[in-house]
Order: sequence, then structure tokens, then C-alpha cells
Amino acid sequence: MHYECIECGKTFPVSRRLYTCPECDSLLEIELDLEKVKEEVDRDSLENDPVTLWKYSPFMPVEDESNIVSLDEGGTPLYECDSLADWVGIDKLYVKYEGGNPTGSFKDRGMTIGVTKAIEYGVSTVTCASTGNTSSSLAAYSGKAGLDCLVLTPKGKVALGKLAQAALHGAKIIAVEDNFDRALELVRELTREREDIYLLNSINPFRPQGQKSIGFEIADQLGFQSPDRITIPMGNCANIWAVYKGFYEFNELDLVDGIPKMTGIQAGGSQPVVDAIKADEGTVTPETDPETVATAIRIGDPVNGPKALRAIRRTGGDAEGVTDDEIVEAQKMLARKEGIGVEPASATSIAGLKKMVENGDIDSDETVVSVVTGHILKDPEEAAEVSEKPIEVSAKYDELVKLVENNDGS
Ligand code: F0G
Repeated sequence: MHYECIECGKTFPVSRRLYTCPECDSLLEIELDLEKVKEEVDRDSLENDPVTLWKYSPFMPVEDESNIVSLDEGGTPLYECDSLADWVGIDKLYVKYEGGNPTGSFKDRGMTIGVTKAIEYGVSTVTCASTGNTSSSLAAYSGKAGLDCLVLTPKGKVALGKLAQAALHGAKIIAVEDNFDRALELVRELTREREDIYLLNSINPFRPQGQKSIGFEIADQLGFQSPDRITIPMGNCANIWAVYKGFYEFNELDLVDGIPKMTGIQAGGSQPVVDAIKADEGTVTPETDPETVATAIRIGDPVNGPKALRAIRRTGGDAEGVTDDEIVEAQKMLARKEGIGVEPASATSIAGLKKMVENGDIDSDETVVSVVTGHILKDPEEAAEVSEKPIEVSAKYDELVKLVENNDGS
């Protein structure tokens, strides 16, 4: 395996600890020797073993398996959602529920690889800037690995559940008086200066390597068939690329029958990639003042924008923006019709799907998988805020009966 620059195509050995291309500073990708991977894949266990991230270990860029730091990530449910499909207006809808990961988001898939690489590179401290979930996950995995963890967050803009996790897992949390984009600039500067601190934001090309297992699992759970389309939230834009890469690698090895149309959804207040796709631009113009209820994806300058554009365009996919009201409505429908509780950012993939079906951009006979990325309890305050409040009653039976008989919620 080697690093490969997605712009200039130059390659570099993974013995070097790199984040971006040393020649042109563009994004790097990890390319595997797929012939070698093919020899290592055991078709029988691939078809019969239970789904987990490490089931796909021949595709994972680890030098020595004894270094692996794992909390048994992956193996998340793929729910067939008929009631939600009716509401959305399509025939077949599956929801890939990433809240089922150890810290409650898909970030764990990236961190099992990222923190394993930190061990392989021999660093003592790991760091990230985060809207919340990356920091929760990094804190948990670095704790398990015995590494120090430093996280930068946008002050006052991180959901409570995520902050609580990062703190309890022992991260040093620095709340920056600015947004995520600035926090990421600061931590990138820090890790350029301090080689003993390893940056585990998704600009680190090893992170998407773990996250590509979402694609492997979806293919596997559908009997090694590709859905027509995947809808997925976009923030810093590594995950849409990672899922695409999973399908790409499986398809190269004839382990799946195609690659889905990758369809990225952003929140209306921070949708620079959607704007670039709609205007057919080659680059992403940052949004300077991103705002949305979906704080996880409150990102105006996504570092992996060029990868998102490639994933969408190479697959004939699309992108759409959704309002906060549309996000909250989709979040409630998913919770109430299917029993799947997610944080607001995750609900964008459902809200965007519904909007695109209504606009005629997605046909009702497509088979769609919507990836929902984080657990409802990541943002308990938002969940309580948008829902009906408890009805208070004096502790008298007659009062209770009156309320039950009225059944009008008043
Ligand atoms: N959904 C959730 C719940 C997230 O936390 C994030 C990103 C995304 C979607 C978007 O994924 O960045 O790969 O496009 N959260 C990051 C964080 C930025 O710091 O936790 P992406």
C-alpha cells in the first residue's frame, strides 16, 4: 500500500507520516495492492461470517495485527424501513444505523484504524478538532491505547452527549472561541510544528480507510448487491468518499455488482458542496458563517470537499441541501415510524432523500440506503427541545383518568 495524491498522482510510502501531499499539499488517499488483497480474501468467511469491521481485515491498512486498537466497531444494523419508505415516497428504503457503534457514531470505524496507526508510528499524543463525535471517539480509543488525547471544539456549539463522552474518556478539551473550521486550522498548524502529536481529523487518509467498511457492510448485508443509491450527510466530507471507496474496492474485486450513486446531503446553512455540485463548479467555495441545528455538520470549509465532488461525480450521484425544519421532521419520522433514534445531522440523509423524491431527482423505484451517522443521545437537548413536553399531573387517580380519557395531550 502507499499514499497517492488525488490531484498530482504522486505516490509516497506509508512509512512516512503524512497528512497531505508533500509536493502539492492536496489530499492523499491510501491505495492498496488489490491483487494482494484478493489473495487474502476468503470467499467462504466473507459470505458466512457475521458482519463487523475487522471481518474485512485484508482491506485494512495495518502493518501488524497485534497493534490493533478495537472496541468491536462496525456490524451495525441495516434496517428495512417500509413505513418510512411510504412517507418518503419510494418503494424500497434501508437505513444503515451508525448509532450502533461503541461510542454511538461512525467515527469509531475511522478511529480503530487511526489510533492503530498512531501506535504503529510510535506517537504519544493524538489530537483532532471536532464538532463533537470525532472527539468522543478519539477520546475512547486513545484511552484504551494509553495515549494522551487533546481535542479542540467550537466553544458552546458541541452537543452535550458528545462533550460528556470526551470528558469522561479523559480527553483534554480546549473550547476555541470560533467555529469548527478555525479550530481545525489551529490544530493543523499545531501538528505541523509538533511531530510528536498525531492529527486524527479525517484529512488524515487513514481515517476513511476504516470508514469504508460502511460500504463493505451495506454490500454484505444486501447479499453482495449494490443499492441504486446511497444518501449520506456531509460535513467535513470524508465519509461520503469513504463509503464510495468501500464499494469501489469491492467492485474492483467482483465482490459486489456495482457502485451506488453517492448522494450527499448538507444542512442549508452550511452547504458549500451542494452549491458546487448544483453550479457544476470544480472547487468548493467555503461558507464563512455556517449555521444549522445539525451542529455535527456545522462546517463551512470542508477539507475533504475535493473527495466529495469526486465520489458524487464518478458515480452519477447528486447533492441536496435541507432546512432545519426538514431535518427535525425527518428525525421525528425516523424515530416514530421506525424506532430509530438519531441526532439531527444524521436525519439529513432522510430529509434530503424525501426532498429529492418530491423534486423528481430520485425515482420512486430506486432502492436506496440512507446512512444515519449518530445516536439520538448524542444531542439529548435538541431531542427534548423539538418534542412534546411531559404533561404534569397531581398525584391523584381521577386527574390521571381525565388526562388519559381526554387523550388530547393538553
Ligand atoms: N454525521 C455526524 C453525526 C457527524 O458527526 C459528522 C461529522 C458527519 C455526519 C459528517 O461526516 O465530516 O465525514 O462528512 N462530524 C465531525 C466531527 C466533523 O468532528 O465529529 P463527514
